[in-house]
Amino acid sequence: MSKLRFAIVGCGVIHGTHIDAIKKFENEAELVAVCDEKPEAAQAAAKKHGVTAYTDLAAMLSEAQFDVLNVCTPSGVHAKHGVMGAEAGKHIVCEKPIDVTLKAADSLINACRSNNVKLEVISQSRYSDGIQQLRQWLDEGKLGRICYGEATIKWYRTQGYYDSGGWRGTWELDGGGALMNQGVHYADQLRWAMGPVKSVAATMATLAHERIEVEDVVAATIEFESGAVGTLTASTDCYPGYPTTLEVYGTKGTVRIESGKIKHAQFADESEAVGPYGGKPKTEAAAAAVAADATASDPKAVSVGGHAAHIKDLMDAVRENRETFMNGPEARSALELILGVYQSARTGKRVQFPM
Ligand SMILES: NC(=O)c1ccc[n+]([C@@H]2O[C@H](COP(=O)([O-])OP(=O)(O)OC[C@H]3O[C@@H](n4cnc5c(N)ncnc54)[C@H](O)[C@@H]3O)[C@@H](O)[C@H]2O)c1
Repeated sequence: MSKLRFAIVGCGVIHGTHIDAIKKFENEAELVAVCDEKPEAAQAAAKKHGVTAYTDLAAMLSEAQFDVLNVCTPSGVHAKHGVMGAEAGKHIVCEKPIDVTLKAADSLINACRSNNVKLEVISQSRYSDGIQQLRQWLDEGKLGRICYGEATIKWYRTQGYYDSGGWRGTWELDGGGALMNQGVHYADQLRWAMGPVKSVAATMATLAHERIEVEDVVAATIEFESGAVGTLTASTDCYPGYPTTLEVYGTKGTVRIESGKIKHAQFADESEAVGPYGGKPKTEAAAAAVAADATASDPKAVSVGGHAAHIKDLMDAVRENRETFMNGPEARSALELILGVYQSARTGKRVQFPM
């Protein structure tokens, strides 16, 4: 089997997790080049991993020989860089969120489709045992009619975190605050569990940070197409940072997940053991999804397992010519939910979907 060759654009905080993930598959994958507009960042990464450094993505795309471009630049340029890669015939692994506007997300989805390349958007928490088990139970109908779902992200970010990059905390490049940057994983999970959104109403504020344009606390109520009701809250003000939660309540069962692990599950037919569930995560990806909650207070504490699972899925999708697990339309749906929340909070009006 020939190896898939990877190159990375954006050598900041998250790029090392992508490199560690690629290196886990030494028989199937290899890193060949890195690019950052800051020469020192590109050279440091290139030297560490023995690959070629570029400071211009267009130059890397025309000169380096590779198959997959990992987009690890600020959120508001994901589509721009991904489209460049797709048009050069590269498969795309894109950091979350897919981008910060639906127009940009659509441009990336369309560029990948028309150039016949795969698109995998990172959403590593989807690999947790808790979410995977919940998905299975929902597909089996074990919870009965789903009435209510709730996701909470009560995290903490210092002022220093927002000051660490000019793009952080801006609408243009971060696309939002606690919900877009930190909360996108859990907004995605709530929507994945509850189904398509019909409308949202929200309130947001910036209370505990300076020099940021975006919200650091937001709460939304959601009406799903199924008729079910949901709530979604996200904050980076909650010292010292608490575990994320996802709760889904139905007429025949309830599942409560904390930090990617099922804390409690109960069914009317008593066919399953009643929680609290414990035990070790079943896979490395699941362990990483649990560890992802370490980022409740430390943005650099991202484990490699979830990213490795995404890299493996992309490679398998290329070889089997199938759709990726976290494809463009899925990632777009999470983005649309977040943008609906922001539009409602800005206008004071309930927002109807599709936007
Ligand atoms: N999945 C996760 O858990 C996770 C964790 C952290 C960050 N992220 C995402 O990864 C992305 C990057 O975040 P980060 O914290 O690594 O940011 P960062 O600021 O640390 O790194 C971004 C890098 O991109 C470079 N860059 C910007 N524009 C460029 C261009 N035109 N060409 C080449 N390089 C360019 C910057 O110089 C910088 O080194 C964000 O979208 C963020 O949401 C995801």
